[in-house]
Amino acid sequence: SPVKVTKICCIGAGYVGGPTCAVIALKCPHIQVTIVDLNEARVDAWNSEDFKLPIYEPGLEEVVRKARGRNLFFSTDVDKGIQDADLIFVSVNTPTKKSGVGAGFAADLNYVELATRRIAAVANSSKIVVEKSTVPCRTAESMRTILEANSKPGCHFDILSNPEFLAEGTAISDLFAPDRVLIGSLQTPEGIAACVALKDVYKNWVPAEKVLTVGLWSSELSKLAANAMLAQRISSINALSAICEATGANIDEVAHAVGKDTRVGPKFLKASVGFGGSCFQKDILNLVYLSESLHLPEVAAYWRQVVEMNEYQKRRFAKTVVDTLFNTITGKRIAVLGFAFKADTGDTRESAAISLIRDFQDERALVNVYDPQVPHDQIWLDLQEASPRLPIEQIKKQVTICPSALEACRNAEAVVIATEWAEFREIDWEAVYKNMNKPAFVFDGRLLVDAEKLRKIGFKVTSIGRGERL
Ligand code: UDX
Ligand code: UDX
Ligand code: ADP
Repeated sequence: SPVKVTKICCIGAGYVGGPTCAVIALKCPHIQVTIVDLNEARVDAWNSEDFKLPIYEPGLEEVVRKARGRNLFFSTDVDKGIQDADLIFVSVNTPTKKSGVGAGFAADLNYVELATRRIAAVANSSKIVVEKSTVPCRTAESMRTILEANSKPGCHFDILSNPEFLAEGTAISDLFAPDRVLIGSLQTPEGIAACVALKDVYKNWVPAEKVLTVGLWSSELSKLAANAMLAQRISSINALSAICEATGANIDEVAHAVGKDTRVGPKFLKASVGFGGSCFQKDILNLVYLSESLHLPEVAAYWRQVVEMNEYQKRRFAKTVVDTLFNTITGKRIAVLGFAFKADTGDTRESAAISLIRDFQDERALVNVYDPQVPHDQIWLDLQEASPRLPIEQIKKQVTICPSALEACRNAEAVVIATEWAEFREIDWEAVYKNMNKPAFVFDGRLLVDAEKLRKIGFKVTSIGRGERL
């Protein structure tokens, strides 16, 4: 019998679950969507009267304003959310394991398992359970075993994999018009029926031909593969940026020329100080771990190099700053513009700015940092985590959080652009120059400024992937 989804529960109100299910609620007014989370502060923020949402994402507030209270609800009552729903998204965090077997590589599946066990324990009717979090290949199998071993009589569970491909900063537009929606299911009659039920949800706004249905394991692996190949493009272009700097070639010109080949394509070829974000590194390390577990060391080594190149790029950029400032930055003030891992997000997970500032601190520099979105507490938390042995008072002596780009640059020897925020394109560089110590250096880690224009003002400019004179 065809399953009709009328109530959805999403476990996990984070960067993925929040925006995804808010958009489902907006686009499917006939479906009741409840997003549950154990974190009370986070749920309160989603419910806040003045819409001070826990994550910053362009367009998100408007979506929540339209749907919240209508058919979109946020709650800490996980059990009720599970019981009421026909379909449950599991959208909890899957960080890289910090200790134990696979530490530093494998995904920590503890949160997925706890959520799965909770579903089995409290559900008193059949459910479709959907993996939304990015998980290692074959996690659905473990989820099924747990659910079947713990379910109440008469309760049947179908498991789907429905990885989310949204990028932060463009989450809402990505969700409104996805390149594709991927649904993996077992190829049994029940599995296929569950797949159709979820497909019907997406049909409310996604054209049918963009919904791809595949086997469970292909779906799980495709998510890791997509992120690994995107990250690999960035590491490839960053590897070439080092060659450009040494030869006088210009990485933007090279990327443009290469990207014109339709087999390569123009996107995701922007050289940078290194990729960040919660997904790329984690998913590649995951793939490395998977390859090793499958006794495929050459495959593991291939993917591992993508992450190593990224680490190299971050270190290399910090070293360029030190080398250019006459081989010492001790006691010198450096302005770091941007702390988020990319523009239009307040997220700092794996942000290149964190390792840059840590390297500057190790050189005993003074750092001024400015970011238009990242909360100050988050900056302190990240810097503390990056230098666990330093007392926070020491970190606060070396680092100052500033209220604007202009303030951050005051009395600095160098400006380092770490995030490509649009407002950095509008900076009044004449004013910045007046307030800086001379010679005034700019290090452009995002190929954002017009280097020639800055040189005319008097700056000494170094851009990633440009072998030109300062
Ligand atoms: C990524 C994937 O794009 C998305 O499909 C997946 O669902 C989650 O992971 P996200 O991490 O949010 O999304 O952002 P993305 O735009 O991919 O950027 C990741 C990092 O790569 C950022 O630090 C960004 O600045 C950097 N980047 C991106 C480059 O350095 N150069 C580029 O050309 C593109
Ligand atoms: C290549 C470049 O495509 C071309 O632009 C350049 O000028 C010369 O080198 P060519 O070597 O003639 O051209 O053939 P190409 O179609 O690129 O294939 C190269 C090899 O890759 C072949 O062995 C082909 O079978 C293989 N290949 C190609 C794959 O295995 N998978 C693919 O998806 C594409
Ligand atoms: P992602 O980027 O994958 O969305 P986040 O860390 O932003 O990851 O969000 C995951 C959310 O899942 C967190 O808010 C966390 O509190 C929540 N969570 C984790 N485990 C459970 C659970 N068992 N029940 C409910 N919520 C959970």
